Order: sequence, then structure tokens, then C-alpha cells
Amino acid sequence: STASEPLVLSEKSSSGKVIILRLNRPKALNALSSPLFDQLNIELEKADADESVGAIVLTGSDKAFAAGADIKEMKDKDFATTYKNNFLGTWTRIGAIRKPIIGAVSGFALGGGCELAMSLDMLLCTPGATFGQPEITLGIIPGAGGTQRLTGLIGKPRAMEMVLANRKIDGKTAEAWGLVSRCVAEGEDVVAEAVKIGDRIAGYGAVAVQAGKEAVNGSLELPLEQGLRLERRLFQSLFATKDQKEGMSAFAEKRKPVWSHL
Ligand code: CAA
Repeated sequence: STASEPLVLSEKSSSGKVIILRLNRPKALNALSSPLFDQLNIELEKADADESVGAIVLTGSDKAFAAGADIKEMKDKDFATTYKNNFLGTWTRIGAIRKPIIGAVSGFALGGGCELAMSLDMLLCTPGATFGQPEITLGIIPGAGGTQRLTGLIGKPRAMEMVLANRKIDGKTAEAWGLVSRCVAEGEDVVAEAVKIGDRIAGYGAVAVQAGKEAVNGSLELPLEQGLRLERRLFQSLFATKDQKEGMSAFAEKRKPVWSHL
């Protein structure tokens, strides 16, 4: 892409309630350079702050979701600078986004591309998608979740095979192993399917959606007893919302709820 072309394209869905972010470095297969990732963080934070938006879809091109961190940028780095500058540290900013992010993966999701995908809240992919952690072929290991999130999602033996033996998997296998929630049918538009999920989510009360995301993520960070307490406390706090009154009244009155997101 030329210098004037944005590294991340942002558009609203036809409903206006879902932001679609598209990684846009096609000539480098969306390799995740630092400028690209900085731009992605800015766009995600903008979407998170936009009151009219209920969910975010993140995608790449047909050929590549993202082929990894930018190898040409990393090639001449040394330990001292990567450590002092906390290289890849900014990638964790995605974890602070409160709105649900749905990944739509076509083509390559390799290395940092697979790790970026796994840091999202839900993943859809095409049958032709390729997931892998090829870092071992470069003399390194994954550095942004490829040993931690991957193991949690697909289990240790399969994670070991992907990380140590460069085993790559297609979309159907990713679905069977639980890396994605759904592999769409051949020819089906994966971005459109992701937007449909986003529109569904945007149709519910935003406070409950945020609490649901926070509680599910709590299960990855907390021991069970603390996780259950967090869940229960969030559940109890939702009884202080207008949306809880509205949702339950609407059910009793056999009508559709009108959410105020308050
Ligand atoms: N970084 C920088 N440039 C990349 C890149 C990457 N990760 N992946 C692809 N590109 C560039 C290529 O260098 C090439 O550029 P030029 O046209 O200037 O030569 C362009 O994108 C197109 O790529 P190919 O010609 O290689 O396309 P292909 O279809 O033949 O192969 C591919 C596709 C198998 C994905 C191959 O590009 C590839 O193996 N890419 C690297 C994948 C990889 O190792 N990723 C892990 C990176 S390390 C990491 O991510 C660390 C971490 O944990 C965060």
C-alpha cells in the first residue's frame, strides 16, 4: 500500500451498529508492523468509544488475515532494545477493549496473525484459512499468546505440534479443534457472517454485553472461586440497570424489549 493509504480501513456496517476494521497492507500479506499495530489500536479504541457501535469486526484480505509480525522489521533487533522498548507490549491493548471483537479470518493467520486472531473474542474463518505458529522456522518462538492462548484453546499436544513442528491447520480443522467458533461453508462470505453476529450483539443491552465479556474473560485469568465471585457480582450489579427492568418487564408483557443501554 502507498504511504497515503491507511494501514487499517474502517467502515460501518449497513445497520450502522458494527464497525468493520480491515487490515490493509496487502503487498506484505498484512504483516503486523509496529505502525500497523499502532493504527489498529487507535481504530479499536475509537470504535470502543463510539456510542452508536455495539460490536467490532476485524478482518484482513482474502489471501491473508495477517502473515505474522513483520520479519523485515524484526530482523536486526537485539535483546536490549526489544526488552527496553517492550517490543509487542502494545499488542495487549486489545485486552482493554470493552466491546466484543469478532475476527473474520480468510487466508493466512500465521505467527502474530494467529496470535492476533486468538486475542479477539470470537473467531469465524473460511475453509481455506491457514492457522500456524511458524516462529520456530525463524529461530524464535511465538511472543504474543501463541504458546498461552493456543494451548488453552486446543490443548497441549496439538499446541506443541503447531509451535515446535510448524504444523499448520486449515479452517475445518481449526473449527474441529476449537480454535474458531465456526468455519463458514465454501463460498460463504465470512465478513458478512461476522457482521451478522455483531448486529445480533448490538441488538442487546450494552451494559449486559460488556459484563458478559468481562465475566467470560475472567475465567481465563482467575481461579474458579474468584471467577465465580466476579460472575456473581457482575450478575447482581445488573439488577441496578434499566435494561434489566426493561428486559424482564418485556418478557412478562410478551413484547420486545427496548434497550436504553443504561
Ligand atoms: N513479515 C514481513 N513480510 C512478510 C511477512 C512477514 N511476516 N509475510 C509475508 N511477507 C511479505 C513477503 O516478504 C513478500 O514481500 P516481497 O513481495 O517484498 O518479497 C510478500 O509479503 C508476499 O509474500 P510471499 O511472496 O512470501 O507470498 P507466498 O504466497 O509465496 O507465501 C506465506 C505466503 C507462506 C505466508 C509466506 O509469506 C510466509 O511464510 N510468511 C512468513 C510467515 C511467518 O513466518 N510468520 C511468523 C512471523 S514471526 C511472528 O509473528 C512473531 C510473533 O510471535 C509475534
